[in-house]
Amino acid sequence: MANRMMLNETSYHGKGAIKAVPTEVKARGFKKVVVVTDKDLIKFNVATKVTNLLDDAAIDYVIYDGIVPNPTIENVKNGVNFVNEVGADAIIAIGGGSPIDTAKAIGIIVSNPEFSDVISLEGVADTKNPSLPILAVPTTSGTAAEVTINYVITDKTNARKFVCVDPHDIPLVAFIDSEMMMGMPKNLCASTGMDAMTHAIEGLITKGAWEMTDMLHLKAIEIIGRSLRSSVEGELKGREEIALGQYIAGMGFSNVGLGLVHGMAHPLSAWYNIPHGVACATLLPTVMKYNKAFTGEKYREIAKVLHIVDAEIMTIEAARDAACTAIDQLSKDVGIPTTISELGVKAEDLPKIAEDALNDVCTPGNPRDTTVEEIIEIYQGLL
Ligand SMILES: NC(=O)c1ccc[n+]([C@@H]2O[C@H](COP(=O)([O-])OP(=O)(O)OC[C@H]3O[C@@H](n4cnc5c(N)ncnc54)[C@H](O)[C@@H]3O)[C@@H](O)[C@H]2O)c1
Ligand SMILES: [Fe+2]
Repeated sequence: MANRMMLNETSYHGKGAIKAVPTEVKARGFKKVVVVTDKDLIKFNVATKVTNLLDDAAIDYVIYDGIVPNPTIENVKNGVNFVNEVGADAIIAIGGGSPIDTAKAIGIIVSNPEFSDVISLEGVADTKNPSLPILAVPTTSGTAAEVTINYVITDKTNARKFVCVDPHDIPLVAFIDSEMMMGMPKNLCASTGMDAMTHAIEGLITKGAWEMTDMLHLKAIEIIGRSLRSSVEGELKGREEIALGQYIAGMGFSNVGLGLVHGMAHPLSAWYNIPHGVACATLLPTVMKYNKAFTGEKYREIAKVLHIVDAEIMTIEAARDAACTAIDQLSKDVGIPTTISELGVKAEDLPKIAEDALNDVCTPGNPRDTTVEEIIEIYQGLL
């Protein structure tokens, strides 16, 4: 089967990238725009950096800021009503993965109203029309939702997070501007950065990986590996590099899928509202070790781009261990929790959570086929 690559039509990178937002809105002839964001980003004057530019350019817009982290079906339905009432012809999504993912679901349903229950969008939905055009401005450096064809919504009633994969949802234009990310507190910067590292590693070893996506994922691992620590310390250069690294990881994994870390992280967020990046980051070092015998030479490649001495010539077992140790160390250095019990996970819930993890859309992409029993064991080892 042929390999498919889908990317934004246009993307802007680097400090000041958001200055191109009004130009793009005007050049594409949009008349009325809904800005999808969350309340904190308005309160802390992050989203305002973009809306000020829209004001200066006299662009007609209204704000929908009702999004919560791990966005819900309700967030999507309310957003659809809002966009329809306003009669918008485009969406500007400003935020982390939560507002950008919600904007994708809203945009898809506005163009494909037969999916207005939201739940029917799970997996690969047969939508017929492209989303209402989305311009995306990330404010965290992790999810790469601005360049992916996925979005993740929480069904609170059934304590489930479900992944939707739909080429029709890809944002038309993305503006990756590190100045939008400078306000992230250390823990958010660390967990979203490790989410990006997880995308790069899972995208590298997933079953559908191929040469072009390997190139992207290895570059992302190299950039994130060398700059996450300084980004977490709030250094400008580090934040700029991570902004790019997470985007490059998104260019890759969006086109090939992920694996067991994401499969196991989604139910943790659905059950306990644990932030996505924290859930992924806490699981990553352990799942990396679980997968290591099923990764061919890939972990050596990771060790090489992380500049581990002699990675090229050591035995494959040593190279795999070196890659796992380096990621474990990075995770510790940026302050990621080492147990899931400190995130509130309860031993008695594990059998049900493990079932949800096995059934997650991301799990089949894992290089090592797994079972409920093995997933329970991994969770238990992290309690
Ligand atoms: N679409 C995809 O491909 C994809 C990939 C990975 C994760 N996700 C999803 O994305 C969501 C997580 O997104 P996220 O980790 O980016 O966080 P988020 O969007 O949930 O935001 C978390 C918190 O950080 C705050 N915040 C965001 N930017 C800030 C800034 N610059 N300064 C200060 N505070 C800021 C927000 O206000 C919010 O309170 C999850 O639902 C996850 O499942 C999607
Ligand atoms: Fe993720």
